[in-house]
Amino acid sequence: MGKWFATFYDMWMGPLERKAFGRIRKKLLVKARGKVLEIGSGTGLNFPHYRHAVTVTAVEPDPTMVRLSEQRAKNTPVPIQIITAGAEDLPFPDDSFDTVVGTLVLCTIPDPDKALREIRRVCRPGGRILFFEHVRVTHPILGRIQDWLTPVWKRFCDGCHLNRHTLEQIERSGLHVIRVERYFQDIFLVIEAASQKKGPYNGRTSYEAKGSVE
Ligand SMILES: C[S@@+](CC[C@H](N)C(=O)[O-])C[C@H]1O[C@@H](n2cnc3c(N)ncnc32)[C@H](O)[C@@H]1O
Repeated sequence: MGKWFATFYDMWMGPLERKAFGRIRKKLLVKARGKVLEIGSGTGLNFPHYRHAVTVTAVEPDPTMVRLSEQRAKNTPVPIQIITAGAEDLPFPDDSFDTVVGTLVLCTIPDPDKALREIRRVCRPGGRILFFEHVRVTHPILGRIQDWLTPVWKRFCDGCHLNRHTLEQIERSGLHVIRVERYFQDIFLVIEAASQKKGPYNGRTSYEAKGSVE
């Protein structure tokens, strides 16, 4: 399944990318500065949007995704190195990166709590973590539909869960969420967090906004 999912990923994503996701990625990733780590980089749809990074290190466990993304990494504004690895066991020392990026990935990673611990470990104190994720909604009917669809959906979409409480997982991980932007009935969230290693976590999000993609 992984190989087919990877091979057709860009084709399936094409309409959404053109309609909205491309602009959401661009607006978010302009904030990626310094040494950047991207987890689960897939076919490299984010790569053209890194304008202010010094270097980008991308980790991706799926070999077909890695091969496809290598093509995209050839024509990018900043140097991009792709490493075959999973986010739950990142092969980097503590505090290695200024920014960590994850898009449409915490839905798929088998152990997202472990991956978030690793992100917190490798991001320097005060560094930025930038997510664009889909989540389970609180709407009683829509949320139930997400629960109901997930067992089938994850078989066809390479382990993707429609019903993860990703914002709460990020907050629980000890990262300090500073901004949340909501899209498409709150199914898609842009989440910006700061890395903090010490001190009590206050669990509060400072800024919430409805996103727009005009
Ligand atoms: C829906 S795709 C998203 C790809 C890309 N981030 C994007 O925005 O288009 C999910 C990605 O997560 C990757 N993935 C699966 N397990 C992972 C893990 N343990 N660690 C990191 N990435 C993982 C998949 O191989 C796939 O590339």
